[in-house]
Amino acid sequence: MEKAVRAIKRADKIAVLTGAGMSVESGIAPFRGEDGLWKKFDPQEYASLSAFNRDPEKSWELFRIQIEECLGAEPHEGHYSLVELEDHGLNAVVTQNVDSLHQKAGNEKVLELHGSLAELFCSSCNSREGTEDHLDEIVEGDIPHCGCGSMFRPDVVLFGEPLPRNVLSVSQREAEEADLLITVGTSAVVQPAASIPTLAKRTGSVLIEINPERTPLTPRVDHFLKGKAGEKLPELVEQIRD
Ligand code: OAD
Repeated sequence: MEKAVRAIKRADKIAVLTGAGMSVESGIAPFRGEDGLWKKFDPQEYASLSAFNRDPEKSWELFRIQIEECLGAEPHEGHYSLVELEDHGLNAVVTQNVDSLHQKAGNEKVLELHGSLAELFCSSCNSREGTEDHLDEIVEGDIPHCGCGSMFRPDVVLFGEPLPRNVLSVSQREAEEADLLITVGTSAVVQPAASIPTLAKRTGSVLIEINPERTPLTPRVDHFLKGKAGEKLPELVEQIRD
């Protein structure tokens, strides 16, 4: 911890990469592991583009759970610590999460690699509407429809779809330009997000990882802080403040 604190104090430009573990203490289930969503929902059957095109009602069973869980969630201490970190050089939060909790906490620059549940879009006419405006019908079990008659879907990246190109390239640039990158709560197995720390390392960034478990990234990081986001991030920020 002390070495990580010293490295953060030395850094001019910091980037953060977050994954589902960042939101666990806000009551949102991760994807992998015993309590993970993918234990109950096979991603190829529910969360892929081909699954949505084949049987959108089935995909909406998953979307409904995610929307109810994420739109009702609140940021925790760890999220607020990342807001304070902006006073100590944090330039961008790159996230794989679709729950808008970093924005709710107040971070200035949030790059959503996998999109967001906060918006719905129509794949027929491309129109967009806020998910919040359709929450009642979603909670009641209905599927929201666009004015053109087609079904809406959440603006999240499904398996088999490319990531939003501009968001990915800005995220990669942030990682390359950062002299320190902190990853929080990601299993670091889904590409291309998982290669962001590698990019940062290649351009000389110090890597810090926060996770209760080791991941494929752990052997390559400079400082591994074993623990939960809601504990380790406030601890880090408190020590930087002193
Ligand atoms: P995963 O569910 O794969 O990994 C969550 C990670 O969080 C694991 O390494 C856990 O050990 C860790 N973790 C659990 N509780 C934690 C806590 N309280 N604090 C910190 N860490 C904790 O989630 P991601 O790595 O985000 O993509 O998964 C990446 C992508 O795979 C997701 O964005 C999603 C999924 O398929 C799409 O849906 C496109």
